[in-house]
Amino acid sequence: MTDPLLSVRDLAVEVSTRRGPARVVDGVSFHIGRGEALGVVGESGCGKSITTLALLGLLPPGARVAGGSARMEGKDLLTLSRRALREVRGGRIGMIFQDPMTSFNPVLKIGDQLIEPLIYHRGMLRREAWARAGELLRLVGIPGGASRLDNYPHELSGGMRQRVMIAMGLACEPPLLIADEPTTALDVTIQAQIVDLVKDLRARLGMSIIWITHDLALVSGLVDRVIVLYAGKIVEEAPVDDLYARPTHPYTQGLLASLPTLEGEETRRLPAIGGTPPDPGRRPAGCPFAPRCPLRVARCESEMPPLVAVAGGPHRAACWVNAKPQELAA
Ligand SMILES: Nc1ncnc2c1ncn2[C@@H]1O[C@H](COP(=O)(O)OP(=O)(O)O)[C@@H](O)[C@H]1O
Ligand SMILES: [Mg+2]
Repeated sequence: MTDPLLSVRDLAVEVSTRRGPARVVDGVSFHIGRGEALGVVGESGCGKSITTLALLGLLPPGARVAGGSARMEGKDLLTLSRRALREVRGGRIGMIFQDPMTSFNPVLKIGDQLIEPLIYHRGMLRREAWARAGELLRLVGIPGGASRLDNYPHELSGGMRQRVMIAMGLACEPPLLIADEPTTALDVTIQAQIVDLVKDLRARLGMSIIWITHDLALVSGLVDRVIVLYAGKIVEEAPVDDLYARPTHPYTQGLLASLPTLEGEETRRLPAIGGTPPDPGRRPAGCPFAPRCPLRVARCESEMPPLVAVAGGPHRAACWVNAKPQELAA
């Protein structure tokens, strides 16, 4: 692809554990085009959040970048100073997280929180920023628009708070929006509304999106392409329709088989597969999925399969059995 907006190469993140450092993100490479929406899926604990937090310079204490690069707009995000990263966050990359209640300051009016990025990144005067904040509330479909600027976060419903969070993420019209399971705490009807809202905003504003989720069905109408993470590695990547039509990695097949029903039944835990991901620090030598994999052969336990093209397309998977990298090597 020509000139991706963000290009991540060989990202590695280590956390300290009682048994020493463990890689929780291991050799992750992906790119995202301008205006493209990328889904990042996988079970809880597989490294989705840590991957994006590393890009934003927001890793939790005890975690550190152990290698790789993340180029965006001519800079490597992984080597920026704290000050430069503050400019990127909010200014070039907007963020929406799962729980607006912990992301908002409970004692500040919504308006005062919305104007902050506009003043900091855009150098707006307070009055100008307040007017823009009102427009943003209308943009994200908050009934009453500007009149809600005087509300405190607890005065809004969860769905409305999440809309305000989106308004905040988009305040400076950043070229990239990162959404980390932003609807998980909401009921299914509201979840669908939030996804539709972001779809609509994307069509109007043209930003690129990284949407992290464990629920692929929820975002299948929003994202163009999907990467599937397992134990800190990409095990499959494909245009979203290809992934549905031909899931190739047994893990992806299991994920798709365990999608919640449309009626909103709770997500089941991979009934097709069973078991849980390995603890960081106790990951097997070969494919990390091998211990749970119904198709494993001897080689899977000793050697990690490379990510290779499936059927010649942009669809890639890392599996000795289903992706046949041995044929390429022959
Ligand atoms: N602050 C931390 N210290 C140590 N390990 C962590 C920390 N945060 C996350 N981890 C570990 O890193 C791995 C990836 O976590 P995370 O990216 O949060 O997963 P996901 O977002 O896919 O649910 C998990 O195994 C988790 O236990
Ligand atoms: Mg997470």
